[in-house]
Amino acid sequence: MFFKKKVKQISKRSIFWSLIVINLAFFTEIGQLHASDIKDLNHVNKSGNTAQNLIIIGLQFGDESKGSITDVLSKQANAVVRYNGGNNAGHTIVIDGKSYKLSVIPSGILQKDVTCFLGTGMVLSLDNFMNEIEKLKNNSIEVSPINLKIANNIPLVLPLHIETEALAEKTQKLNTTKKGIGPAYEDKVGRRAIRVGDLLNLDDPQNLKSLEEKIDKLIAYHNALRKGYDVKELLNKNEIINYLKQHAPNITPYIADVPREIQKMQQEGKKLLIEGAQSCFLDVNFGTYPYVTSSATFATAAAYAMGVRLKNEQVLGVIKAYTTRVGNGPFPTLLQDEIGKKIGEIGKEFGAVTGRKRDCGWLDLVAVKEMVNLNQVDYLALAKGDVLDDFDIIKVCIAYEIDGKIVDKMPYEPGQWTKIKPIYKEFKGWKNTKSITSFDDLDSNYIEYIKFIEEFTGIPVVIISTGPGREEKIMRTNPFMTN
Ligand code: IMP
Repeated sequence: MFFKKKVKQISKRSIFWSLIVINLAFFTEIGQLHASDIKDLNHVNKSGNTAQNLIIIGLQFGDESKGSITDVLSKQANAVVRYNGGNNAGHTIVIDGKSYKLSVIPSGILQKDVTCFLGTGMVLSLDNFMNEIEKLKNNSIEVSPINLKIANNIPLVLPLHIETEALAEKTQKLNTTKKGIGPAYEDKVGRRAIRVGDLLNLDDPQNLKSLEEKIDKLIAYHNALRKGYDVKELLNKNEIINYLKQHAPNITPYIADVPREIQKMQQEGKKLLIEGAQSCFLDVNFGTYPYVTSSATFATAAAYAMGVRLKNEQVLGVIKAYTTRVGNGPFPTLLQDEIGKKIGEIGKEFGAVTGRKRDCGWLDLVAVKEMVNLNQVDYLALAKGDVLDDFDIIKVCIAYEIDGKIVDKMPYEPGQWTKIKPIYKEFKGWKNTKSITSFDDLDSNYIEYIKFIEEFTGIPVVIISTGPGREEKIMRTNPFMTN
């Protein structure tokens, strides 16, 4: 009974959204978008307002170029916020030919007068965080507690988490980034994590005592695990305390009341750019579980993971013109042939964090559309079409076939994943789109491809990235600030 009612509700809701999308497609002629129609695109914004808060998420399996899109938009933001993951993420941003690799510090740090926040939904490696700050400073980028603020309740990723993960991976075989992210989140929900705020005021004996008690509980748990894995070397409490004491004076100045500061900025009408790490298919709840990361990557997770209620938010979903995946898990459009190899080589598809080779395949619009709908995405950004500049035929997956039946979403059951046969639509290849900065100058075959993405998803492609550089972007409309 309850179940039936739920199904009714869900189908009513999906009919509602389908109608909205069809109407939007009809009234705004999404398929016909043109550079000169930029103003008309504003009608697509459901609230009728421009975004005060823009959430940027990846709609595929990660590495969609979110960092470079965030970088371009962040110059109009007052703040850039990260809300999930840790140094398993990696962005490479190219400015004036110089490339910056960032993993936890938001790319907004490269802009003047932008405050960067690390929110509660993240996990933080002290070594990585301090290294990143040092590298930025060595490149004359200004980093201080004035433009970089971290929440006090972010759990720490400790060296022990990397070791625990290596042990778990022997049997779990998820092919993680090996940064200790999963075990750090496990300790968070297991209520034994050491958090950034635990390093505050350690010269107060009560604080030090409380930290020591926490470490006792943490190592009791991890040593039991180690014994189970037959590891001879157990964790040493003093080593951990010394490690934390050594980092404390460097890290604690960055601690701030992040939710309150963000709320205040919202009240003042400031613009927030909120940067999701990893991607929708790696979300711990809605992704291809268990081949996912350990955090909530969805746009809907952002507010809670920052500790605020967002008002007037818009969602920009970033996709690549093809698909990549690193690590294990389903990949319906995977190309295990020369074409896949060629895409990987031209697109330099190697992980920014681990250097791992990413698998490549055609654009999977079934997967993209599923995440567009779940996240109620308002705008799309499309990256790396230029990587396909030298292909005669380009394919796009528009449906899955499983056991002779057409399916329009990723099946829940891992047992079905290997049975998926992608159904493709073919497009004529395009040329010379690299570094183009005007939509009208793009090869008409690429324009046709972009229009198809808009028609299929019902969402306008407002930003087209034609290269890694800050200037290699076509902004058909600025989803963040159009006034
Ligand atoms: P973890 O996040 O290190 O636990 O890894 C879990 C899965 O997510 C693995 O398949 C990783 O390859 C994948 N993953 C985590 N972070 C990223 C990312 O930033 N880009 C792409 N894949 C990622």
